[in-house]
Amino acid sequence: MSASDRSSTGRSGVSTRSVHAGAAPESHTGSVVAPIFQTSTFQMDVPGQTRAGFDYARTGTPNRSDLEEVLCDLEGASYAAAVNSGTSAEVAVFSALLSPGDEIIIPRDVYGGTYRLLVNEYARWGVGIRTVDLTDSRALAAAISDRTAIVWAETPSNPGLDVIDIAETARIAHAANALLAVDSTFATPYLQRPIEFGADLVIHSTTKFINGHSDVIGGAVLAGDGQTCPRAAEVIDRLTSHFASVGLGISPFDAWLTRRGIKTLPVRMAAHCANAQAVAEWLEARSEIAEVYYPGLPSHPGHEIAKRQMSGFGGVVSFSTDTEERALALVRSTKLITLAESLGGVESLIDHPATMTHLAVADCELSISGRFIRLSVGIEDIADILADLDAALGATNAAIGAAETDGAVPEAPDGQAAPESKPAPDAQAGVASVTVLENA
Ligand SMILES: Cc1ncc(COP(=O)(O)O)c(C=O)c1O
Repeated sequence: MSASDRSSTGRSGVSTRSVHAGAAPESHTGSVVAPIFQTSTFQMDVPGQTRAGFDYARTGTPNRSDLEEVLCDLEGASYAAAVNSGTSAEVAVFSALLSPGDEIIIPRDVYGGTYRLLVNEYARWGVGIRTVDLTDSRALAAAISDRTAIVWAETPSNPGLDVIDIAETARIAHAANALLAVDSTFATPYLQRPIEFGADLVIHSTTKFINGHSDVIGGAVLAGDGQTCPRAAEVIDRLTSHFASVGLGISPFDAWLTRRGIKTLPVRMAAHCANAQAVAEWLEARSEIAEVYYPGLPSHPGHEIAKRQMSGFGGVVSFSTDTEERALALVRSTKLITLAESLGGVESLIDHPATMTHLAVADCELSISGRFIRLSVGIEDIADILADLDAALGATNAAIGAAETDGAVPEAPDGQAAPESKPAPDAQAGVASVTVLENA
């Protein structure tokens, strides 16, 4: 499961590049770590001539360039823009590359904010939004049309951990002259490099594993070159012009923190993957757990594709409990694992998507079951993570038993009232249906 090494690529290995790309000592003082260039503007000696390519911080800063350099290097991209959130990365792609009358195809399982952004902000500009089960390439082939400008794949997906075959999706998208954009946030370039499989664009919320320390909001858009991506020149031109006009760039401090986080990306991802695999196997053996979703399990429908296109299965494990009451009690009973939105930090976080991260899709066909839980497995000792889950599952039995005796709403051990639960479908997400949300 190791990522590329020097012998196979002729380049430095991925751990070396994670430490050194875009991280040269600063030339003026010799500072081994680059300073934070906290400035809005840059002195010129001659009007219109910059000293090092920087004129005004909306359009670029040294720290942003350093981050873009390492992201490009790790992703095998020819273009990178580091921006102030993963959502801004999405905004840039949608605004730069969609026009009124176009359609975008999104997967059945997608980050709720992506769906909300498209429906709230782009549908009213005349963009059609079509939901397709992209784990089924025949469904994509049937749905794609000459209106389709972008196929948006999220793999592995949030929160259902669907795995989409990037090479096959690129083939179908390109045959229809559409672009393939892959949100690769869950994988990071350490585990998956979509451009090598034909994706035109890669999107990251660098907030997550790439920065890895839950202390920055950031994002990135990356693009390939003309060799793998037939329309790369046009795409990069549109993105460059969009970023220059709009100014979504990440701040110097956040770029600096993210560049620092990337130095440990390979060791962190290896630890996340090992712990997540152990958690997934442990959960599979528990009677209170109805389903476990993790691409590293042979039972996962995308396991073989994941083995082909990833070098590890990632740090997120999702699962469904037997009842919604148990799910709500569980997320409030863990002690080491923190109940919070987000994922990808060194600390384990637990999320109840139906009431938290994916509330935006509560009333549509992408809605998430109330029994569903997303666990971002951190790099703590695996024995401590499993002990916390074991104790929390034990506490759910007590909470549910007490509620059945009293006929009351189950209470978490901390005494807070459980939020009112709403009926939800049994399926983890809207399945395979094809819906067009036209301009609404
Ligand atoms: C897969 C995925 N893409 C994009 C985003 C949006 O990123 P951000 O929160 O940095 O705007 C998220 C956030 O959770 C995500 O999980």
